[in-house]
Amino acid sequence: MTYNSLALKITLMGSFYFCMAAFIVLTLVFNSVVFSNGGKTSIYVRKMEKTVDMPLESDVFRVPSGYNAPQQVHITQGDHVGKAVIVSWVTEDEPGSSTVLYWSENSKHKKKAEGQFTTYKFYNYTSGFIHHCTIGNLEHNTKYYYVVGVGHNMRKFWFTTPPKVGPDVPYTFGLIGDLGQTFDSNSTLTHYEQNPKKGQTVLFVGDLSYADNYPYHDNGRWDTWARFVERSAAYQPWIWTAGNHEIDFAPEIGETTPFKPYTHRYHVPYRASKSTAPLWYSIKRASAYIIVLSSYSAYGKYTPQNQWLEQELPKVNRRETPWLIVLMHSPWYNSYNYHYMEGETMRVMYEPWFVRYKVDVVFAGHVHAYERSERVSNIAYNIINGMCTPVKDQSAPVYITIGDGGNIEGLATSMSEPQPAYSAYREASFGHAIFDIKNRTHAHYSWHRNHDGFAVEADSMWFFNRFWHPVDESPTSQ
Ligand SMILES: *[C@@H]1O[C@H](CO)[C@@H](O)[C@H](O)[C@H]1NC(C)=O
Ligand SMILES: *[C@@H]1O[C@H](CO)[C@@H](O)[C@H](O)[C@H]1NC(C)=O
Ligand SMILES: *[C@@H]1O[C@H](CO)[C@@H](O)[C@H](O)[C@H]1NC(C)=O
Ligand SMILES: [Fe+2]
Repeated sequence: MTYNSLALKITLMGSFYFCMAAFIVLTLVFNSVVFSNGGKTSIYVRKMEKTVDMPLESDVFRVPSGYNAPQQVHITQGDHVGKAVIVSWVTEDEPGSSTVLYWSENSKHKKKAEGQFTTYKFYNYTSGFIHHCTIGNLEHNTKYYYVVGVGHNMRKFWFTTPPKVGPDVPYTFGLIGDLGQTFDSNSTLTHYEQNPKKGQTVLFVGDLSYADNYPYHDNGRWDTWARFVERSAAYQPWIWTAGNHEIDFAPEIGETTPFKPYTHRYHVPYRASKSTAPLWYSIKRASAYIIVLSSYSAYGKYTPQNQWLEQELPKVNRRETPWLIVLMHSPWYNSYNYHYMEGETMRVMYEPWFVRYKVDVVFAGHVHAYERSERVSNIAYNIINGMCTPVKDQSAPVYITIGDGGNIEGLATSMSEPQPAYSAYREASFGHAIFDIKNRTHAHYSWHRNHDGFAVEADSMWFFNRFWHPVDESPTSQ
């Protein structure tokens, strides 16, 4: 289509020409012009190929060779402060050993930790032997090697522990959501890996494998997904959030235990934050305090998640961890015509707390596109006063939807018009983001679309910390 190729060519030119050409394209092409009191709706237009899953024989799904070789290796933080790691993997032929051998780069002395394995059935699928082993008492800021598959075919990986928790510790988080296992998913992961900003830990906002899109929720697609992401998740922690595609509730085939495959395969350190379920928990990492919530578990008054969050928020010490980050799957502020208002009931419950405790940023997924909000809140409404419009609020978080990992369901392209005032930037392209904490006052945030080179920032902003430097950072205020 000429419109597509024109727009594509435009993006290859310098930003000066881009702006001029963008103006022309806007004037010529859009007859319902999108000017509003809102932010920017990108005019970037990508090729609209269909999103398709990578076939089973793809390189990314290859099973490691050798009898009972460990596969699907992944790690996550294993305690509250970053001195432990949970190592998880699957063996297919027999249980084999749940031992992890590990040693730091400096001391060649090998240590040993014992884990456990579990299995589960889902309809007519039987899982492999899923091992989880926590290795603790690690030194901060240290490279460790580790080996799994003791007794059969051993495989070796490595990771670097985070620095000790403290207010000025720089740290770089990657943001990925709704990844799936399509060719676009592979492009997203490659862009994350090749990004010169070098993310050290992935904050994953839910919807992992999309196995539930297959007949009978073909759980073999949970296995392929874990083999696909091993090339990153075995070497740096991925911090997990549950999405709707983790529920796997299928009464029509007798599967009525929500989150069964997800909770067997992905362990998180929820007990370390006094949570009673793996679906909501918190960790500290470097200068960040990260709270993970579950959009698909009860969150109303008196529920376990509600009680936990109410007790959790006052525990956050911004003098120790200046950056307060919340992860959830279903966004509260979204202006796409997909999943519109699905996050509303949770917003009503928790938004006053987020404003009171000055959350810096909320990352969500679910909508398969990208969007960044202004700092807004909508907490004045009390049923009878009619005050139900989002207002600019410097105590409120920025809300970012990063559900654009590239799964089989394709992009969310239809947006509500005009762009609402709370929406600062939105674009329907696949990509990932980087939240790069510099010190207690500044973090640089950037969003990277898959169609650009690895270093290109398609959207970016400086975050000013809400506790240490609560100054308006939106471009319109400067
Ligand atoms: C996935 O991406 C990797 C790294 O870019 C590449 O080596 C591999 O061939 C890709 N696989 C598929 C199926 O696209
Ligand atoms: C599970 O059942 C479906 C439908 O009957 C069938 O197509 C599939 O091959 C079965 N898979 C296994 C592993 O038995
Ligand atoms: C914090 O980082 C920002 C951005 O790099 C820098 O401009 C600022 O001077 C730093 N603050 C301190 C106290 O070093
Ligand atoms: Fe989702």
